[in-house]
Amino acid sequence: MDLADAQVLRQHLIDPEICIRCNTCEETCPVKAITHDARNYVVDPAKCKACLACIPPCPTGAIDNWRTVLRAEAYSVEEQLSWDALPGEKALGLGTATAPAEPPVAVEPAVSAIASSPLPPWSASHPYVNLYTHKNPAIATVVGNYRVTDSASESDTHHIVLDFGATPFPVLEGQSIGILPPGEDGFGRPHHARQYSIASPRDGERPGYNNISLTVKRVTVDHQGRPVRGVCSNYLCDLKRGDTVRVIGPFGSTFLMPNHTPSHLLMICTGTGSAPMRAMTERRRRRRVKGEGGKLMLFFGARTPQELPYFGPLMNLPKDFIDINLAFSRVPGQPKRYVQDLMRERAPAVAELLRDDNTYIYVCGLRGMETGVLAALRDIASAHGLAWEPLLARLRAEGRLHLETY
Ligand code: A2P
Repeated sequence: MDLADAQVLRQHLIDPEICIRCNTCEETCPVKAITHDARNYVVDPAKCKACLACIPPCPTGAIDNWRTVLRAEAYSVEEQLSWDALPGEKALGLGTATAPAEPPVAVEPAVSAIASSPLPPWSASHPYVNLYTHKNPAIATVVGNYRVTDSASESDTHHIVLDFGATPFPVLEGQSIGILPPGEDGFGRPHHARQYSIASPRDGERPGYNNISLTVKRVTVDHQGRPVRGVCSNYLCDLKRGDTVRVIGPFGSTFLMPNHTPSHLLMICTGTGSAPMRAMTERRRRRRVKGEGGKLMLFFGARTPQELPYFGPLMNLPKDFIDINLAFSRVPGQPKRYVQDLMRERAPAVAELLRDDNTYIYVCGLRGMETGVLAALRDIASAHGLAWEPLLARLRAEGRLHLETY
């Protein structure tokens, strides 16, 4: 065995039992070391530089697993893809662990990975995370399940209320949970958990109750438009009152709202990405009488008004409470408009918020919107005399820019 083979490697692995396949790690990895198939997310030992960029954004902690192995015996991508559970620590061969494990190498994160802040707002409440796992899920009861998109529209999006009874399940706006759908996947393993943003504020969908709500779109086609039956979304949308659901989490310790006054929220979302925006808006609405908060500005994109979740309730919010801007992309006879187009149209108001150190920005929805929204923010800032790069750096460092796309 030559020296390179004898080198000890601190191999980075992802726990397939805990991973909720949210793709955050793959998006974050600056050297493209993380890949996945229909079964698992895995780390290529030949590419991973152990820069740790993927560790903080992982909602479950599945990402933070390490095994000491001889480099020559590192678990291959193919091996990891076949796992149902992580292997234990291997005993290293006698006399072989002579070369030291290589120190982690600092690598500059990719541009998309650096956008979202790794920190919460300074005044955010402290979140509880990972209280319940797939081995120890909380059991919630469905107390409401109704459609929030027009019945004539193609998009079947549901508002689902889950009650935890006497089971503690403390959450904050911006956090998410995992749902364990019943049954097995194509490999005969229990289905992995699916992640959903919480759509209700911390004091409950119904104030003072131990319940939360979700915004779930029934998945009937994949990203390429091919017919597919989404395992968990169909399960959830078909639930009846009184049914029970296995829940894990809560997840998320950065995409959280500020609590101080004044703090302004600039919220940009598409489709079911509206869930955390609903939670934060409702929190602010309930606290408004106490004088808490600052300005709220919302950009919300959907194909048509009929497909926009919560269209009716949103329109009923007072104009002096929230500045609502709706972008529709498929209204017959009207030009296609995305949230970023509308942001440019409202550039002076957006710039005013960007200029204010108390503004917190939240982006949630389709992955594709991320680039367009960041470009719009950059252009608006530059056109209004704000240097974008230093502003972006400050937004990140101060926990004031949060992106969650899927
Ligand atoms: P469209 O699909 O008409 O191009 P969905 O209904 O699939 O959840 O999407 C919500 C909204 O987000 C739709 O209006 C959709 O437009 C829009 N959208 C799609 N791609 C982007 C993008 N790259 N940036 C912003 N909005 C987008």
